[in-house]
Amino acid sequence: MTTVFSFRCTFRLPKIALAQHSRTFISHSTCRAFSAMAIRPAPEFVAKETAANIHQPRDPNTLSNYNAFRTKHTEADFEIDFNAKRLKGTVHLTLEKLVKDASKVILDSSYLEVFGVKAGARELKYDLSTSRVEPYGSPLSIGVPETDSSELKLSIDVATTKDCTALQWLTPAQTSNKKHPYMFSQCQAIHARSLFPCQDTPDVKSTYTFNLRSPLPVLASGLPTGPRDFKPGQNGEPGTLLYTFHQAIPMPSYLFAIASGDLASASIGPRSTVWTGPEELNASQWEFEKDTEPYIQAAEKIVYPYAWTTYNVLVLPPSFPYGGMENPVYTFATPTVVSGDRQNVDVIAHELSHSWSGNLVSNASWEHFWLNEGWTTYLERRIQAAIHGSDKHRDFSAIIGWKALSDSIKQYGEDHEFTKLIPDLKGQDPDDAFSSIPYEKGFTFLYHLEKLIGKVKWDKFIPHYFTAFKEKSVDSYEFKATLLSFFAGDAEVSKKLENLDWDTWFYKPGFPPKPDFDTELADQCYELAKKWEALNESKADNWEPSPANINMFTSNQSVVFLETLQSSQTTLKPDLIDLMGKTYGFAQSKNVELVSRYYVLGLQARDEKVYAPAAELLGRIGRMKFVRPVFRELMKCDMGLAQKVYDANKETWHPICRDMVRKMLEKGPKE
Ligand code: BES
Ligand code: ZN
Repeated sequence: MTTVFSFRCTFRLPKIALAQHSRTFISHSTCRAFSAMAIRPAPEFVAKETAANIHQPRDPNTLSNYNAFRTKHTEADFEIDFNAKRLKGTVHLTLEKLVKDASKVILDSSYLEVFGVKAGARELKYDLSTSRVEPYGSPLSIGVPETDSSELKLSIDVATTKDCTALQWLTPAQTSNKKHPYMFSQCQAIHARSLFPCQDTPDVKSTYTFNLRSPLPVLASGLPTGPRDFKPGQNGEPGTLLYTFHQAIPMPSYLFAIASGDLASASIGPRSTVWTGPEELNASQWEFEKDTEPYIQAAEKIVYPYAWTTYNVLVLPPSFPYGGMENPVYTFATPTVVSGDRQNVDVIAHELSHSWSGNLVSNASWEHFWLNEGWTTYLERRIQAAIHGSDKHRDFSAIIGWKALSDSIKQYGEDHEFTKLIPDLKGQDPDDAFSSIPYEKGFTFLYHLEKLIGKVKWDKFIPHYFTAFKEKSVDSYEFKATLLSFFAGDAEVSKKLENLDWDTWFYKPGFPPKPDFDTELADQCYELAKKWEALNESKADNWEPSPANINMFTSNQSVVFLETLQSSQTTLKPDLIDLMGKTYGFAQSKNVELVSRYYVLGLQARDEKVYAPAAELLGRIGRMKFVRPVFRELMKCDMGLAQKVYDANKETWHPICRDMVRKMLEKGPKE
């Protein structure tokens, strides 16, 4: 009986059954047993052919058989070809065999051209599936030689294609100084597979060597190594240099990153450098030089020393679709962070925090994304509190976060799967599930735990957790188990943790309980918003708006003011939108956090004067955090104009942003 049970559990439990099982709460020991079973070698009697596929991986968003083989080292030898807009070269994978008789390596791939696969000098048979499995791509299945060795080295000759979703190629005309082309990658969540065949899952970690040949300076998510071999160009083409990097800390494929263009650098701290176009260098240096090192030191005090040697920032062109991306050694950042007032450096606090949460300790699958983003949001706000010397600053940031959470929940609907802390992502594209929910519901959960356990005790758990899973991947059940076992000797805390409704936190859709935040900094914003509501209804008792109203505001306080009006019952009259823009300078602000919110408010008011500037902003800034709300409102105002904006920008937006807008257009305006 026992044998039958263990056989069924380990090898036959269908994916769906396993997933359902994990959704009804199972005890820590049961969870551990499942994890342990998942990597136990298949018994001899299991047919060779099926052995490689029989183990249920915990990541449903990969087609690779990563429980049969596991990547240990990746060497990427690529030429960056700006003319053909492609990467071409060879990727060498060193894999560990986990299942004795496994005869096939199945790798993720998406829109790739594969020219050949070798193990040493031996050519291997492979099959690159021609029919795509949406949204996961075309699995590359490689027949591997029978050997007793547990190590397998594969060399795959490969090139990206025009459909690659991980790269954006900019022509010289699309760059700020119009002199040189530019290219950059964005692999999170599942785009690394469109650069080279790999086990594209955060449950697998590999060390990396990057050998990248380019006519322009190159950065990659490792530490630079030398020397740089020069190759003269042919037929008048510029020569190329070989840029090499090494990443000795194992990292998941989604952190593979490269960029190449007209790049210059300047110091922003004792272990930090900013990289950007030469014309933007001084402004970028000024924006970050005050805060970067204090942030690193604050984070080190909360967790433990920074592991990645140097912490640098690459400021990208405006089409970069995110605020920041935590690529190891080089955070990639939107140029909208360089707002000339140091008011958006919280993005740096956030990406830096990922050096611990996400990069050292990685979510095991995108279903457990809150462990990356919730922890990072938590650490980011702890850094802010440490720098400002008071918790009211983190509560203020959490209030902004709560608004983002409630907007996302309202967008999806309170019962939607994606509003759960642990959503079911089988068959889904993780990009479609992306929202503020993992950030803010995750933050709220950790904030709740901090208050429940008490800060002094909780603070001891933080370094423990980040040590226990350092260089590993973790899921929510392991997080829970680690928390319970850390406090097992503390009767008082244990009791509280036993009484905690874990199932509700993990699986209930919709809102979590709202914490009692300190509203001191937000109250001033709410009061000003009330005055504008009164003015709109001609009940303002002689109050007149003046620039002095917001003189003492930080830009985040202006954000809260604008957001309060966005979600108010009162719709402002168009002439008040005009008055507000002029009085507070929102329309002219260099800070896109303010301009974009001001335009949303104007669009909500159907103020036709903002339609054209809002459309212009959409063409100028490709950060999805701004594109999404502005485009959504624009659709409600004028579908024809929205369609025009899409047509005008679809070639120049980043592929991820373009796809998001296309899907929004397909769904149409939603009130
Ligand atoms: N890792 C994310 C960006 C991301 C998430 C890219 C999922 C692709 C898929 C990054 O750390 C992030 O959260 N960026 C935020 C910054 C903000 C929270 C300060 C962003 O882009 O807005
Ligand atoms: Zn993040």
